[in-house]
Amino acid sequence: MIVTSTPEASPGTAADIVDRQRTTLFPWVKPYYAEPVVLSEGEGVWVKDVEGQDYLDFFAGILTTSIGHCHPAVTERVTRQMQRLGHTSTLYVTEPQLEVAQQIIDLAPEGLTRAAFTNSGTEAVETAIMAARVHTGRTEVVALRHAYSGRSSLATSITAHASWRPLPSTSAGIVHARSPYRYRAPLGPDATDEQLTAFFIDDLVETIETTTSGRPAALIVESIQGVGGFIVPTEGYLAQAAEVIRHYGGLFIADEVQTGFGRTGTHWFGCQHDGVAPDIMVMAKGIANGFPVAATVAREEVAASWGSLSVSTYGGNPVSMAATAATLDVMVEEDVPTRSETRGHQLRQALEGLQQRFEWIGEVRGRGLMQAMEIVADRTSKTPDAARTRALMQAAREEHLLIGAGGLSGHVIRTGPSMLITESETAEAIARLTRACERADAL
Ligand SMILES: Cc1ncc(COP(=O)(O)O)c(C=O)c1O
Repeated sequence: MIVTSTPEASPGTAADIVDRQRTTLFPWVKPYYAEPVVLSEGEGVWVKDVEGQDYLDFFAGILTTSIGHCHPAVTERVTRQMQRLGHTSTLYVTEPQLEVAQQIIDLAPEGLTRAAFTNSGTEAVETAIMAARVHTGRTEVVALRHAYSGRSSLATSITAHASWRPLPSTSAGIVHARSPYRYRAPLGPDATDEQLTAFFIDDLVETIETTTSGRPAALIVESIQGVGGFIVPTEGYLAQAAEVIRHYGGLFIADEVQTGFGRTGTHWFGCQHDGVAPDIMVMAKGIANGFPVAATVAREEVAASWGSLSVSTYGGNPVSMAATAATLDVMVEEDVPTRSETRGHQLRQALEGLQQRFEWIGEVRGRGLMQAMEIVADRTSKTPDAARTRALMQAAREEHLLIGAGGLSGHVIRTGPSMLITESETAEAIARLTRACERADAL
């Protein structure tokens, strides 16, 4: 629990602050819950609201406070950097940027030897697509249904959720193949992973053959679809999809914004579960424990193709890089892939126990400390149940447990805490989630 308190961080009641948000920000800045939580402090997996209530943060600001709120190593390094040099732009050389580039290249799958820094996952996706288009001299991009890529015009066109698109797709040349979504595949419950993968790969080939010129620039795939509801691809899908896109002369882009840096357990990046070395990889979220940092890494010759000028005012900012370097150092020291694997196993077993108790938990899925429950009306119809999902979110909130929602219909519960979460903190989260399920069951 958080023991310190900063009085200057409590400027009003939660209701006053929420009112101010509603009248000053764009309406699309939409927090969770009918009565949003107004947070003012954090430490490890705990956060405190402006009224002094503690919550166990089991979603980590969308899988982003990867080593816990206000980690002292990050705070210390950022403070030191802030006192020396706060900003330069990419027009000047600073060492922290190169230190982080090397850290990332050392962790990334083989062959990804060049890095570029930006400020959000959206921008990193934009950079990846631009790099693929420049390198191949082509424009068409293949994405997957249920994808989420960010909030720019291009990213919302790649995103395949009607609810996250303010406009019809505004970018030409983006097509979508089927997501390797085992639970909702039309092959029946007895289909093997091999059969499912063959089905989804056939669809990918057919999509390229029928909806592009046959000369795509790239395929972009999340190693586990995050906003889509932690959809774990069927075994072998990523590797075969990479082969397919390369066969057509395009590049394989792995979006590791949610799955990167040990989150999925055992490996540093999600695509490594399928033994894939992408041509381009996109990272953000957990990379800097909450600082606005993203990176795009690419093979040497892909990066070399981009000859025109480009600048990022804040990309590689020394303070952001200090946060990133400190976060990555802690991740390596603490061996977060192993921690995610171990704690993820503890969590997964508990979620599967809940699935046995509650008929409305259709599927439990995920990897490492990225685990989800798909909420359905019943297991035969598999009809998404967004109302029960909202009720469960609210019940968890009442248990002072923060979890996330996702899925096409907002019917998937997502969990992804700090990878430094302890065994007893995980057990505490499970106890709260169990009570929340019991309450949601009574509805
Ligand atoms: C897989 C994936 N890619 C890209 C993005 C966009 O990142 P950002 O919100 O930092 O722009 C997200 C955000 O949730 C994401 O989940």
